[in-house]
Amino acid sequence: MSTTAPNGGSPVTEPGGVPRSHLDLVRHAVLAASSHNTQPWLFRLEPGAISILPDRSRRCPAVDPDDHHLYASLGCAAENLLVAARATGLKGHLTCPSPESGVRIDLEAAAPAPSALFAAIPERQCSRSEYDGKPMSVDELRRLEIAGRGDGVAVKLLTDRPSIERVCEFVTAGNIAQFADPAWASELRTWIRFNAREAARAGDGLYGPAMGSPDVPRWLGSLFMRVGFSAANQNRKDARHIRSSAAIAVVCSEVDDIPHWIEAGRCYERMALEATALGLRTAFINQPVEVQSLRASMAGFLGVGNHRPDFIVRIGRGPEMPRSRRRPVESVLV
Ligand SMILES: Cc1cc2nc3c(=O)[nH]c(=O)nc-3n(C[C@H](O)[C@H](O)[C@H](O)COP(=O)(O)O)c2cc1C
Repeated sequence: MSTTAPNGGSPVTEPGGVPRSHLDLVRHAVLAASSHNTQPWLFRLEPGAISILPDRSRRCPAVDPDDHHLYASLGCAAENLLVAARATGLKGHLTCPSPESGVRIDLEAAAPAPSALFAAIPERQCSRSEYDGKPMSVDELRRLEIAGRGDGVAVKLLTDRPSIERVCEFVTAGNIAQFADPAWASELRTWIRFNAREAARAGDGLYGPAMGSPDVPRWLGSLFMRVGFSAANQNRKDARHIRSSAAIAVVCSEVDDIPHWIEAGRCYERMALEATALGLRTAFINQPVEVQSLRASMAGFLGVGNHRPDFIVRIGRGPEMPRSRRRPVESVLV
């Protein structure tokens, strides 16, 4: 049975008694970024609360052996959910009662507060394209820095060309290390969706055109990968993309543990929503924080001591890219 809205409008609960607003919140949450678009989340809906649990069947042990990206992805989804809740008249309170099990968000009624960040949720994307190379204003940089700040998490913004060039060198070294690792390469292949049909069928994974590749049949995509999948090609493309960016943001956390990885994911997502609201584009270039030895050198270069550099994100103005897919919301409910 579904409950009728007091205004006689559409039902406020779905069949089964789940508040309709909770499902809408999940719909916004799943639009968040996730590593390799694995969407490694499950949502448990209760009256007055939503828990976001890790879906360990979607782990990527080669690129993410400690599950840092998996928990950060839960943080990204949690941030979207909190922003959407606030906009639609619910205040969320996030806790990690048992961090390995993800997060719990308790919801209470509040005045609806629609925001530019809420409007940005369906617009945000990782735009893996060349940007226009023009600098950002001081006000834009300040807004991004504030949006990326959290509890034990801060963002370092690099705008000077020598620092951006240094990041480019780190990414080059990261590509060389990753492409030399057969486990990393074969894991990545399992998440590639070469064409719109494959992407729609799976509802997850890395859709070729969203990565800047053409939409091709699987046999042709596999052939391209056999001949063109190399650190040298990736380095040429990444260097062009990095040099076209206005700034590089590095999200760093004070403590290297699950609650901080979740918080870092929230900070990235909030910063990306703020960037989207400002008409800016973002894309991850995480290779130097995924290769453990480079991560330590990166922390040294940034002067952040033993803090963990969680993500590296380039920012600038550029074209919209094709969208990556999501699974239907029903498939992420427990
Ligand atoms: C923790 C984390 C790590 C990621 N690392 C990378 C990366 O190294 N390179 C990249 O191109 N995208 C990276 N992504 C972006 C995802 O591939 C992207 O969010 C996903 O494909 C969904 O696409 P969308 O963000 O455009 O909606 C990462 C995302 C997250 C949350």
